[in-house]
Amino acid sequence: AGRLQIEALDVAAAAQIAALAERLAARGHLDLLINNAGVLVSGERFGTLRAEDLARSFAINASAPLLLTQALAPLLARGHAAKVLCVTSQLGSIAQAREFRTVSYAVSKAALNMGVRRLAAELGARGITVVAMHPGWVRTDMGGAAAPLQPPDAVRGMLTVLERLTPAQGGRFYAHDGSELPW
Ligand SMILES: NC(=O)c1ccc[n+]([C@@H]2O[C@H](COP(=O)([O-])OP(=O)(O)OC[C@H]3O[C@@H](n4cnc5c(N)ncnc54)[C@H](OP(=O)(O)O)[C@@H]3O)[C@@H](O)[C@H]2O)c1
Repeated sequence: AGRLQIEALDVAAAAQIAALAERLAARGHLDLLINNAGVLVSGERFGTLRAEDLARSFAINASAPLLLTQALAPLLARGHAAKVLCVTSQLGSIAQAREFRTVSYAVSKAALNMGVRRLAAELGARGITVVAMHPGWVRTDMGGAAAPLQPPDAVRGMLTVLERLTPAQGGRFYAHDGSELPW
């Protein structure tokens, strides 16, 4: 009891990221950061793509995990074999892109994937392992009722991959079942 502490934050607000890092600094170290927050603008079609949807998707899906990880890196570096999991999506895979849909989401997740590679290179040297993970198609508000996976199953899978993660796996792109996905 008393071990869970909840800190609310809008990850798209730089000032709130700085404030969180300041509040957490007193704790001395962090062992795990999961960048999970994300948004998906549904129903996008070629011809009606909106600048504000692209910008908001980019801010939350791509910029926020980079900035939050950067802000918490000093705490992670003092952690025990610290790990950073960026929850991305298979829709962000450039290799698998076939059609013009969920474009703001796909483009921003592709950018996040690049961010993961860059962070992994920088932070690996400080003992922090950074990976990208696709949770599967999950029955959440975003995934919708047709999704085959229940959230506990997706989470259990991702935690198993995370528990077994070694520093040599930094910068890789996994699915919740531990299989590797093409960038
Ligand atoms: N569901 C799927 O099938 C699926 C597939 C591939 C990848 N993913 C990824 O998995 C992650 C979780 O998705 P989900 O399915 O749980 O989506 P979801 O049901 O739409 O939930 C999204 C979560 O992100 C939070 N969030 C959004 N904007 C935020 C912000 N600016 N600051 C802080 N939190 C914010 C939301 O908080 P509030 O409710 O407070 O707004 C909510 O808790 C996302 O990164 C998503 O891209 C999901």
